[in-house]
Amino acid sequence: MSVPTDLELAGPHPVRGRLRVPGDKGMSHRALLFAAMADGSSRVVGLAGGDDVFRTRRALAQVGVRSTIAGSAVTVEGHGVGAFTEPAAVIDCGNSGTSIRMLTGLLAGRPFLSVLTGDDSLVQRPMGRVTEPLRAMGARVDGRADGTFAPLAVRGGGLVGTTHSLSVASAQVKTALILAGLQAGGTTEITEPAASRDHTERMLGALGAPVVRVDERAVRVSAGAPGPLEFPVPGDPSSAAFWVIAAAITPGSELVVEGLALNPTRIAFVDVLSRMGASIELATTGEELGEPVGEVRVVAAPLHGTVIEGAEIPWVIDEIPALAVAAAFAEGLTEIRDVAELRVKESDRIATVRDLLTRLGVGVEADDDRLSIRGGRPRAAELDSHGDHRIAMAGAVAANACEGESLVRNWRAVTSSYPEFTQDLATLTGRARL
Ligand code: S3P
Repeated sequence: MSVPTDLELAGPHPVRGRLRVPGDKGMSHRALLFAAMADGSSRVVGLAGGDDVFRTRRALAQVGVRSTIAGSAVTVEGHGVGAFTEPAAVIDCGNSGTSIRMLTGLLAGRPFLSVLTGDDSLVQRPMGRVTEPLRAMGARVDGRADGTFAPLAVRGGGLVGTTHSLSVASAQVKTALILAGLQAGGTTEITEPAASRDHTERMLGALGAPVVRVDERAVRVSAGAPGPLEFPVPGDPSSAAFWVIAAAITPGSELVVEGLALNPTRIAFVDVLSRMGASIELATTGEELGEPVGEVRVVAAPLHGTVIEGAEIPWVIDEIPALAVAAAFAEGLTEIRDVAELRVKESDRIATVRDLLTRLGVGVEADDDRLSIRGGRPRAAELDSHGDHRIAMAGAVAANACEGESLVRNWRAVTSSYPEFTQDLATLTGRARL
């Protein structure tokens, strides 16, 4: 099914059925990177299909790592980082912050020149958080505005293990430093102000790499590499969140998402929805590379406002656009605090969430690190993704629950993480097509 430029949607339509969402985006990037670092052949099944993960795979091809696709499986031929070769062209990471930050950490260990850049959004996102600690480890990293923005130029090698105390909780930065630390002499230690998602620690630990968790906010790394992997990628909770919230707010809905990653650092949006009165249950059914997998079941129920703040924020950071839609349909006030990081995501999500809700007729106040949403009766509207995949999907979920005809402009942004979203929306809402 082709993805339309703008999405026209008339609601309300209940969301019903069972579904598997595409493989987790963050784990897909990591699986490719770890397979490239391993010595041997790895097989990853159900890799996320969006453009972001494709960018990581192509970047690895540019440094000489071969991978082939057969059906839903990708085979990566790893020969260790020592076999990487200098890329002949600039590495274009497109819209993907995960690609550019993790690759910068990985390539900081390699004794050649890599130049990395991305699209108009990516070149405005902060890179100093990665380049500065990598410089402290001995990498020569430069870039626009003294290395604070892409394009970045990395001449790596000769890294020295270093102790880092990060000023923002960021799993991308933590992962970049872990990948550099695996190629450095001595020990690298990374401490965050709050715990960010921990896929890298879990997956690398399960693959035998010397990555040890010191406590919830700190990790220690020494030189080494992961072994090859065999990994069915669990479903992406950040994609599932849109369906779970679509079902929670649209009367008559009942939905099960199966084969889903249930890592506690990713599934906290379910706790938030439970606090809001949602009828929702989780069940763990297994584990892959240290990552719990299971299903979530949700039935529509009236919601009320809540407060989301502090240490919970890094665990729901990608779900805020979807949770803001839940808040828009909830009774009363929802306060979302400590979310300055939203300003430097794929769009300025404080501004784009405010725009989305305002167009829906919902009362919203925003400042530098806060959104305050007065729930009510959102009405059909003309919405805009502002080129941000998660704003596009949040718009679709809201439009699906509203009475009347809505439009989501720049709908094609969904292809960054979830090209199949339009098809899944049609199937779950019983529409012949969209
Ligand atoms: C990601 C971490 C998060 C998240 C991003 C993906 C990851 O960013 O917002 O979409 O895969 O590690 P931070 O680096 O800010 O934690």
